Amino acid sequence: MKCYIIFSGVVTILIYLKYSVNGRWPYNDKHRSFLNSQLQNGLRQEILRRHEDLIIFYKALLEEFSIKTSPMEIELDTVNVLDFHIPTEENVPPGTLGCVDLLHLTAVDYIGSGFTKLVLKGTMLDGRSIALKYVHSEGNDIKQCVDLHKDHVGCHRLATYKLQKEVALLQILRHPGIIKLHGQCYHNTVGPDIRVTAMMEIGTPIQMIQLLQAPWEERFKICFELVQLLHYLANSPMGSIALLDFQPRQFVLVDGSLKVTDVDDAITKELTCTQDEDCTLDFPSKTFVLKCSATGTCEGINEKRNLYNAYRFFFTYLLPHAPPLELQPLLQDIMNGTGDLRFGINDTLKSFENVLNLYKSGMDHHNETDYLKDYLRLDGFRIIDNNNHFRCWPSYNHLGCLLSVHSAEEAAEICSNHTRCQNFFIGPQRTWTGRLLTSFTSGPVKLVPDVNSQVYVKKNSDS
Ligand SMILES: Nc1ncnc2c1ncn2[C@@H]1O[C@H](COP(=O)(O)OP(=O)(O)O)[C@@H](O)[C@H]1O
Ligand SMILES: [Mg+2]
Repeated sequence: MKCYIIFSGVVTILIYLKYSVNGRWPYNDKHRSFLNSQLQNGLRQEILRRHEDLIIFYKALLEEFSIKTSPMEIELDTVNVLDFHIPTEENVPPGTLGCVDLLHLTAVDYIGSGFTKLVLKGTMLDGRSIALKYVHSEGNDIKQCVDLHKDHVGCHRLATYKLQKEVALLQILRHPGIIKLHGQCYHNTVGPDIRVTAMMEIGTPIQMIQLLQAPWEERFKICFELVQLLHYLANSPMGSIALLDFQPRQFVLVDGSLKVTDVDDAITKELTCTQDEDCTLDFPSKTFVLKCSATGTCEGINEKRNLYNAYRFFFTYLLPHAPPLELQPLLQDIMNGTGDLRFGINDTLKSFENVLNLYKSGMDHHNETDYLKDYLRLDGFRIIDNNNHFRCWPSYNHLGCLLSVHSAEEAAEICSNHTRCQNFFIGPQRTWTGRLLTSFTSGPVKLVPDVNSQVYVKKNSDS
């Protein structure tokens, strides 16, 4: 199955490229004739609806880049909503990838697929890997549509709108928590419909099981990055954006940072209402009724929808387990505030920042006991790999006991409270919050010179 998907993906790239790299694409002509063709009524309505939705994004995109469509590309006498031109290679920022770059891709392989899209990876001439997104012809989105409407081309068009919307949105939105779009390729000459390839930053799909085993500091980082993203989405250039299909599988990690990759189900409008009951947010185990504002919109509903999804898919799994004791009340506050939507995204961000600051400060953790006095400090050395590692949880490495600490005092306390610990060393590495990565071992140990490290050996140990 996987081989089949890769094979069809590669064949598709090659066929597209054979026809697509030689010039401009009469996108609008083809598009218009397609929309005017005899489509089944229900499907046609849906296509028109999605088309109009897409136009909103293209308008925002045109404004964003101040793209002026040239008269050649648009027939001024027939201008209507169907005439908005997609961005072409001439009017995207320099450095953006296009169809030509696809020609030189090597090591094309399958990464993933979802309801609508197929995602492959490829290596470019300069050695960079990128992700490629296509409409997934064998995916459930198209399958369900074809079952209903018996029209593969029309259904492909519907799905293509989603990808086009995603591409437009990724160009409008800029935030470290949103996957970067490197480029796009529109192929017009094969088949009855336009074919789109989105080229983007590559990540690794989120593995919740793996995250659950990570140190609290790393789990907190993911949640904090998510909160920063949701804060941006609530205040985006397109208004407050809700991600309708909000699940961990719509996110990837790039260099350890969380990024959303699937934004085709994003909405920018908030519900209109006449009474509070119109502003109902339904989740499998909870329903919220929000306020209908005087202007007749469910103000804040998009923000709250995202926030509750963040709570139920991320916070509940990642935040409360094994945090430092001192942070527990603050974290409980966050869990309660987001779990019943008493918090908005501003309150949530503020609370996360408080937690982070407290964590960075060492949490005013003062020992009654001076543990450090029991250790001999050897500056300019580190412990090299020996067989005296012991495992602890949650360690930054799997084979040993590598923990983050605020200070040598804290490390000494940890070592003194662990029966197998005889020594530890603090190297130059810091975690994302600036804490010291410390390796705990049981003696005897082998030391090597290292100007950036200090070794601490238990005074009564036999090493
Ligand atoms: N940039 C990327 N890097 C790595 N994997 C990705 C990337 N984008 C998507 N994926 C993987 O491909 C899957 C499908 O992509 P997605 O955009 O979510 O498609 P769909 O809209 O069909 O759900 C994702 O669940 C994710 O595992
Ligand atoms: Mg998805």
